[in-house]
Amino acid sequence: MFESDVLPVVLAAGKGTRMRSKLPKVLHKLLGWPLISHVLTTLRHFRFNQIITVVGYKAEDVKRHIESRDIVFVEQREQLGTGHALMCCQGFLNHFEGTVLVLNGDVPLFREESLKRLLETHIETQAAVTLVTAKVKDSQEYGVVLRDRQGRIIGIAEITDRNRMKAAEINVGIYAFKAAFLRENLKYLQRHPQKGEYYLTDLIKIAVERGELVGGCEVPFEEAIGINTRKDLALATKVLERHLVERLMLEGITIIDPESVYIEMDVEIGLDSILFPGVCLRGKVCLGEDCILEPGVIITDSEIGDKVHIKAYSVIANSKIEDGVSIGPFAHLRPGAHIGEDARIGNFVEVKKSYVGKGSKASHLTYLGDAEVGSGVNIGAGTITCNYDGRQKHKTIIGDKAFIGSNTALVAPVKVGENALIGAGSVITKDVPPNTLAIARAREVHKQKKRKA
Ligand code: UD1
Ligand code: CA
Repeated sequence: MFESDVLPVVLAAGKGTRMRSKLPKVLHKLLGWPLISHVLTTLRHFRFNQIITVVGYKAEDVKRHIESRDIVFVEQREQLGTGHALMCCQGFLNHFEGTVLVLNGDVPLFREESLKRLLETHIETQAAVTLVTAKVKDSQEYGVVLRDRQGRIIGIAEITDRNRMKAAEINVGIYAFKAAFLRENLKYLQRHPQKGEYYLTDLIKIAVERGELVGGCEVPFEEAIGINTRKDLALATKVLERHLVERLMLEGITIIDPESVYIEMDVEIGLDSILFPGVCLRGKVCLGEDCILEPGVIITDSEIGDKVHIKAYSVIANSKIEDGVSIGPFAHLRPGAHIGEDARIGNFVEVKKSYVGKGSKASHLTYLGDAEVGSGVNIGAGTITCNYDGRQKHKTIIGDKAFIGSNTALVAPVKVGENALIGAGSVITKDVPPNTLAIARAREVHKQKKRKA
């Protein structure tokens, strides 16, 4: 098969009424990627020259998400059905003699191998159209494939709740057409009397009437799931998550309870890392080798080194953690936190837009915001960087090996020099030079109690 002989067309102009959403259906996310990106990614396993994408409802939003050199957008101004969406691509058919591969943009789990099989079957049999089908126990709202006594496909019946069938063969919404067949027959599609839409599926009947060959290519239902409602989205999420987690386990990652974790598409995990139940990894997360993520750890868009131990219920976003670090339990690393090698961030510690150097420790109940902490620093329990004066944020800089006593307030902008020692309970408002002891608290006085009469 030559990819240059195939013209893929993705239908993505529909609103997705049954989603009941402000967002166009194809932009709803499935494990972190918009539905349509799943379809485009599968197509990109092949080297097609271009991918035509039909957009319409909130076209600008859809375009913005998927814009790329290999995509050509076609606008369907009024959403008059899947057949009409294809009619909008007529211009591309005029001088093209190969296979037109049409894919509904809301069928995200269809696999590369099945696509290859579809194209090969289609080209081998020289059918006018080959459609992907799947056997189901309940036809739901899918179109049902009709066959004659000899088993030849003769049409597709659109299903409503009234004529819903138990065992059925459904139309998956992915088709290979001979370009010439489409060119000649798209014009015969007619608006449906009830819905007023042009059904792409009527092309099957037209092909049969013209005595053309119509072929089928069956796939497991798992690949055929079409997303019309949020229930479909949840089902597809479950199926895809299971595949993703199984792949990770085969790659050498321990996932103690595979059904309880939530891991998105752009997550990478190194060998021998262990995920406890309830771990949630979202966006682009890169986790190193030999890490332990305890129950309830939530990480979004972050880079994490090797041998990092993240204890229960810690929340980490847009942060970088280097090798050998220990975090939590109940720690909160907000955007811009950068934790150096072997450092320790303990329970109820919040870090925002701050660097913590190698081997430094903030073990309990601390807030570090807009801070730069050197290496080997000890930050006592209850230490707070007072980084905000009500209008602006200011920096706190702490030198290597400094020791900050418990319950210290560092009023920024402020610097604490190397090896300085801050007495517990201090409110530090002036820069502390290196190797200096600073105490800024009221002196303790002891007085003789008055005797009661
Ligand atoms: C369609 C098929 C049905 C099949 C099912 C598989 C038709 C008439 N029916 O039904 O046989 O079983 O898919 O999932 O084709 N779209 C446009 N423009 C439009 C309308 C839709 O681009 O005017 C796009 C949508 O964005 C969507 C795709 O086409 O990505 C399918 O549309 P949808 O309305 O979901 O079709 P189904 O009712 O699911
Ligand atoms: Ca659909």
